[in-house]
Amino acid sequence: AIDIKTLRAETGMVTIDPGYKNTGSCESAVTFLDGEKGILRYRGYSIEELAEKADFLEVAYLLIFGELPNKAQLAKFHSDIKEESQVDEEMKKILDGFPKSAHPMGVLSSLTSALVAFNPTSVDVSSETAMYNSIVRILAKFPVLVAWTLRKKKGLPLDYGDDSLGYVENIHKMMFKRPNQEYKKDPIAIDALDKLLILHADHEQNCSTSTVRIVGSSHAGLFASLSAGISALWGPLHGGANQAVLEMLEAIEADGGDTKKYMAKAKDKDDPFRLMGFGHRVYKNFDPRAKIIKKAADDVLGNLGIQDPILDIAKGLEKEALEDPYFVDRKLYPNVDFYSGIIYRALGIPTEMFTVMFALGRLPGWIAQWREMRLRKEPIGRPRQVYIGENLRSFVPLEKR
Ligand code: ACO
Repeated sequence: AIDIKTLRAETGMVTIDPGYKNTGSCESAVTFLDGEKGILRYRGYSIEELAEKADFLEVAYLLIFGELPNKAQLAKFHSDIKEESQVDEEMKKILDGFPKSAHPMGVLSSLTSALVAFNPTSVDVSSETAMYNSIVRILAKFPVLVAWTLRKKKGLPLDYGDDSLGYVENIHKMMFKRPNQEYKKDPIAIDALDKLLILHADHEQNCSTSTVRIVGSSHAGLFASLSAGISALWGPLHGGANQAVLEMLEAIEADGGDTKKYMAKAKDKDDPFRLMGFGHRVYKNFDPRAKIIKKAADDVLGNLGIQDPILDIAKGLEKEALEDPYFVDRKLYPNVDFYSGIIYRALGIPTEMFTVMFALGRLPGWIAQWREMRLRKEPIGRPRQVYIGENLRSFVPLEKR
C-alpha cells in the first residue's frame, strides 16, 4: 500500500520554492533593499549617506540597536567593547594547530566556534543583558581573530590591539603592525577600510544572514550562529566571490587581457565560467554599493599612487557587460564584490583574506539580525519538504544485496 503522499494535492499547504526566490523568512526592520531601483538603507539611512558621513562603529550601533548613537552612547559602547578586547592565550594554540596553507575562512569559522569554550556564558540568550554582553564581546574579539588569521598567513607574531585607538584604526594596526617597528597611522588606508566595512555591514536576508538567524533560532548562542554564518559566506556564489573576482581578473591579465574572450565564456551555457562579481539575486539594477566601491577604488589607488592594470580590466569588463544584450536582458550588473578586491589588494591584504574582510564588515549585520530574531521571539526555523523518494520497502541483508 502506498502510505506516502505522492500527489501534489495530497501534501497539504507546503510551498516548494528552491533557493527561497519568493519566500520571505521573517519581518525585519534592519535593512531596506529595493533591487529594482538599486536602493539600500540601514535602519532608514541611505547607504550613500552612511558611507560618506558615518564611521563603522556608529553604523554597527545603528544596525544593532536601531538608532544612531549620541556621543555618550557611542563612548559607552566603545568602552564596553574595549573591556573585552583580550582573547584567551589558549586560543593561540588552536590557531597554531592549523597549517599555514589553511583557508582563512575555515580558520575564522573554527576560532569563532572555539571562542564559546572560553566564554561559556556567551551561550546565554535568555535576557537582553546576556545578549548585550555577548554582542560587545564578539565585536571586541572578532577583529583580534581576523588579525591573527592574517598574521599567521604572513608568519608575523600574534598581538593584541591598542585600546587608545578608534575601532577601525585598531583593526588596521592589529593587522599590519610589523615587529620592532613603530606603527604609523595611515589615514587613507583606514578611511578606505572603514568605508568598505560599512558597505558590507548588512544586506537583509542573504545566505549567511539567513544561516545566522536559522542557527540562532534553535537558541544555539551568538558565537555558534556567527560561525555558521561565516561558513555560509565562504562560498564563491556569496562572499567568496570577492576572492573569485580577483583571481578571475588576474587570470584574464595573465592570459593577455582579452576581456572579450571571457565575456564569450560567461555567455556560453556549456562553459561553467561565470563573470564573478556580476549578478545578484535581488538587485536587477546597479548594486549601489558597487557604485561607491568603484569610485573608492579610483580614489584609494590614486591616493596611494598605485596603478593596477587589473582595475582597467575590471572597468573594461563592466563597460562591455553594460552594452551586451546577454547581461542587459538578464539584468546582470556589477555587485559589491566586483571592485572591493582591488581595494583590498591595494591595502596589502592577501587575496585569500578578502572574504574574511567581508565577514568583519558583515559582523554587525549578523548580530543585528540575530538580536532582532531573538527579541521577536521567532520560532525555530524548520522548512518543510515534499518527499519524492521510495515508498516503504523491506530491509535486504548485506549478503543478499
Ligand atoms: N555570469 C554569467 N551569467 C550569469 C551570471 C554571471 N555572473 N549571473 C547570472 N547569470 C545568468 C544565469 O546563467 C542565468 O541565465 P539563464 O536565465 O539563461 O539560465 C541568469 O543569469 C539568472 O541567474 P541565476 O543564477 O538564476 O540567478 P540567481 O539569483 O540564482 O544567482 C548569483 C545570483 C548567485 C549572484 C549569480 O548571479 C552568480 O553566480 N554571480 C556570480 C557570483 C557572484 O558574484 N556572487 C556574489 C553575489 S553578491 C554577494 O553575495 C555578496
